[in-house]
Amino acid sequence: MQIVRTGEELSQALVQLRQSGTVALVPTMGALHRGHLELIDQARRRARHVVASIFVNPLQFGQGEDFARYPRQERLDYQMLKAAQVALTWVPQVEHVYPEGFATTVRVAGVSERWEGEARPGHFDGVATAVAKLLLAVRPDMAIFGEKDFQQLAVIRRMVADLNLPVEVVGVPTVREEDGLALSSRNAYLSADERQRALALPRALEVARDAIVSGAPVAATLAQARDRLAHSDFAKVDYLALVDAHTLEPLDQPAGDMRLIAAAQIGSTRLIDNLPL
Ligand code: PAF
Repeated sequence: MQIVRTGEELSQALVQLRQSGTVALVPTMGALHRGHLELIDQARRRARHVVASIFVNPLQFGQGEDFARYPRQERLDYQMLKAAQVALTWVPQVEHVYPEGFATTVRVAGVSERWEGEARPGHFDGVATAVAKLLLAVRPDMAIFGEKDFQQLAVIRRMVADLNLPVEVVGVPTVREEDGLALSSRNAYLSADERQRALALPRALEVARDAIVSGAPVAATLAQARDRLAHSDFAKVDYLALVDAHTLEPLDQPAGDMRLIAAAQIGSTRLIDNLPL
């Protein structure tokens, strides 16, 4: 596996890779876990070469968020990427992605505005700007993202369509621990006790999904699910909603392609999760 840090090194390495086949990009912020390995696996099935990027993107962290303490484990990440047969890992430097005087922001209206967009102002501008730059630098045939960050995936799909970026966006279902907790780099923040209680999040979503699928009224079901979380020591439920899977607009009754999405805080850790219906 080749590890490159500069734009020039990246361009050179890509010329070589492209000569012998298609390229799939797996953008990451490092702190890799089995969820990322699943993204790489899916990339490997679809393309001849897998390129991964590791970039803890300062622009997508708000003031007072966890940029400084976001888990960093570069050496272990490299080992994992190498073992997963990644051909090339790009570790862009902040000065390269955001050079002196950088003044351009990619903002995706509509789908980015509610939910995470409301709880974390500016977050999706940061994601969209960084992902656009990663896609423009690597110009992959496809780019792979987890469904765990479901709204992020919808924002990226919208951006790619709107900017006519010549890349196929692939979403990969969430990988979970055996007990149901969605894998996330931020799970590392949970104490043993919080880790146990965090299970209430996927449970609340499962119960709500089953109820809605079997015809229970949506508003009452969602209210019960929020109560359930509050009673399981989630200090704050930012949202728990039934939404259209493409526009992320809330639904008050089942219709079309739907998703249940939630974000809640346990101790000082904010967790998000979602389920298809
Ligand atoms: O999901 C992530 O790890 C990040 O938001 C991404 C897509 C790599 C953009 O920084």
